[in-house]
Amino acid sequence: MRLTSRLSLSLIASVALVSVAFAYFQTRSNRRGLKRELERHALVLAESLSKSAQPALQSGSYRELQRLVDQFQNQEQIAGVAVLTPAGEPLAISSRLAPRLDRQPEPVRQAVDDGLTHAGFLTLSGDPVHVIAMPLRGGVPSVVGILTIFHDAAYIDRQTAASWRHELIGVGVQTFVIALITLLTIRVSFGRPLKRTTEWLRALRSGTAASTPELEQHGELEPLTQEVSRLASSLVAARAAAELEAHLRESAESNWTADRLRVFVRGRLGGDHLFAVSNREPYEHVYGDHGIECRVPASGLVTALEPVLCACEGTWIAQATGNADKEAVTDGCRLRVPPEHHQYTLRRVWLTPEEEQGFYLGFANEGLWPLSHIAHTRPIFRASDWEAYKTVNQRFAEATLEEIEDEESPVILAQDYHFALLPRIIKQRRPDARLAIFWHIPWPNPEAFGICPWQRELLDGLLGADLIGFHIQAHCNNFLDSVDRSLECRIDREYFRVTKDGHRTQVQPFPISVAVDAPETARASFELPHLERARLLAKLGVRATYMGIGVDRIDYTKGIPERFRGIERFLEACPAYRNEFTFVQIGSPSRTSIPRYQNFVHEVIEEAERINRRFQSGNWKPIVLLTRQHSHEEILPYYRTADVCMVTSLHDGMNLVAKEFVAARHDDQGVLLLSRFTGASHELADALIVNPYDTEEVAQALHRALEMSPEERGIRMQRMRAIVKERNIYRWAGNLIGELCAIRTPKRIPAAIESKPLLVRSAAKKS
Ligand code: G6P
Repeated sequence: MRLTSRLSLSLIASVALVSVAFAYFQTRSNRRGLKRELERHALVLAESLSKSAQPALQSGSYRELQRLVDQFQNQEQIAGVAVLTPAGEPLAISSRLAPRLDRQPEPVRQAVDDGLTHAGFLTLSGDPVHVIAMPLRGGVPSVVGILTIFHDAAYIDRQTAASWRHELIGVGVQTFVIALITLLTIRVSFGRPLKRTTEWLRALRSGTAASTPELEQHGELEPLTQEVSRLASSLVAARAAAELEAHLRESAESNWTADRLRVFVRGRLGGDHLFAVSNREPYEHVYGDHGIECRVPASGLVTALEPVLCACEGTWIAQATGNADKEAVTDGCRLRVPPEHHQYTLRRVWLTPEEEQGFYLGFANEGLWPLSHIAHTRPIFRASDWEAYKTVNQRFAEATLEEIEDEESPVILAQDYHFALLPRIIKQRRPDARLAIFWHIPWPNPEAFGICPWQRELLDGLLGADLIGFHIQAHCNNFLDSVDRSLECRIDREYFRVTKDGHRTQVQPFPISVAVDAPETARASFELPHLERARLLAKLGVRATYMGIGVDRIDYTKGIPERFRGIERFLEACPAYRNEFTFVQIGSPSRTSIPRYQNFVHEVIEEAERINRRFQSGNWKPIVLLTRQHSHEEILPYYRTADVCMVTSLHDGMNLVAKEFVAARHDDQGVLLLSRFTGASHELADALIVNPYDTEEVAQALHRALEMSPEERGIRMQRMRAIVKERNIYRWAGNLIGELCAIRTPKRIPAAIESKPLLVRSAAKKS
């Protein structure tokens, strides 16, 4: 039976039941009213009649009595009147009553017995009547007679029956009207929206739905509507993903997206959690003008790891660097992030200023950083820094061990040169953990690495990991050579594996990258390139036709002075570009507590000023140096409109600026000038590749970039974009986690079992 029919039947039954009950009580009450009315009327009549009857009775005038009773003979509703002796024998009786009064009615009998007035309903010859028997005294104490009045009560039954009929008709009409209105309301309020929703869902299922219909947004149907809309969106998204997947399979492409990464990581982890360890934290709390503010530090690492952590409910262990970080944690060291939609846990680790000095500024950035980059800045190795580096690695390892305590075979991703010792510490305590470390900077050749006094400890620490990742194969090879020179172990050069003390470490390249925005998102705020370029330069107080862009941390490895000297040589050799070409260098100050970095900032500023003094005229100058941190949104317009982007690192693990520039060029224009000493140059062969130490080569490449035809620019950029799009950040994370999850580690032996005597353990095994 249909829902509406069932609803109608139950509605009709309920309304009818309630109405009938109501009518029943109404009719009963009417009947009682009629009876009371008749009783009152009979009493009044008896009292008035008794006044006339008593004198006649006392004077013994029976004729007078008969006349009196006959007077009422024909009155409506009166069935008869009788005057009786005190013993109840008739003295005078109306003629119609006499034949029907075959026995003494009950009220008369009672009046005879007790000398009081009695009344009641009874049947007389089958008809319902009301009888009142009133003793007559006539001024003397003893009873001289009894006045009896009989009223016809049949009209009460008639009126009751009529009232029932009337009420039942009312019940019928009422039931019909209420049921009709209710059903119409249901049909209009629920039926129509449900019908529309059903038709839409049917169309959606069959893939013919064009758009979402106007669904009920208020009232009882709102939650249902919302859920249905969400379900529909998921269905549409799932169908789109399935179509994309089918398309990818068809075209044998492997396009990684944040969603694909999410699905992939969840699948690989099978419900397990992921743990990331890095020095930089993904969210930093700082005191701002309007109270505590939460900021995302400008870091490629954060962009890369955030979707992975969000995908698998992981924990990110990092140094607390914000001055309000303590205020934001809930249990002394943890908080849920992202702030607007909690998806994973951030575990903060606090360092003392001395530890920060020795670990971060000292060993990591005055020792390992210049050691790993061939940029001709001497590494400084202090024993006190090494001690701090060991202490902090131990501290982060302890924090990680605490986080993974309840996890079986946890998956840990350690990041960068800050944590070379951490893999060994963790794996010694938790051999079941699957641990990878990704080294974000170059690995130098064994001779260069060999100058580190603690090279063995560093290599041993790293080999605690199951997987070590570098950006390019050359860094993997250098690492294996360094291991070969310093440690007792077996190196498998065919499969790039090192086996030390029975533990095997895989060494593999994973070129890091960036996310490429969808063109629609990126194009939304895009005006014509030359107009936007002129506007950007005007804001900087410069007029020029051509614009170059450089974006770096102010670091001696980035080749910024070499770049400036290349620009100087270009303006020398091509005077036509004076007053026409301006280079904007965005340089964010970095690690400024280190003297080498402080000096380097001055060096960069002086070199820019020297070149500007040499060429500038009017409102044009060759170099605009912006020495403050810029957000990605601020940098994007420069990337989108520059004629050339210059990346001239003296040595660089990958260099993401090169890939960010390519990712931003939805117009397939702009030329990338790229140092051959960057990891990126291994992938982006369509850039103009230069040796930054060769000033002449840089100048010529710059000239070539500005003179290049739009067709050639288009072809080169399209090829580079295809590479960056395919080998994006999601693929990097997916490959790294995929490889790590494939590694088998021994099962964890619970501490309780481990400490039990052998006998007990084998007994437990049998049971
Ligand atoms: C290099 C490292 C990164 C680090 C970045 C910024 O690129 O490989 O891991 O995030 O420098 O350095 P900082 O010292 O400011 O964290």
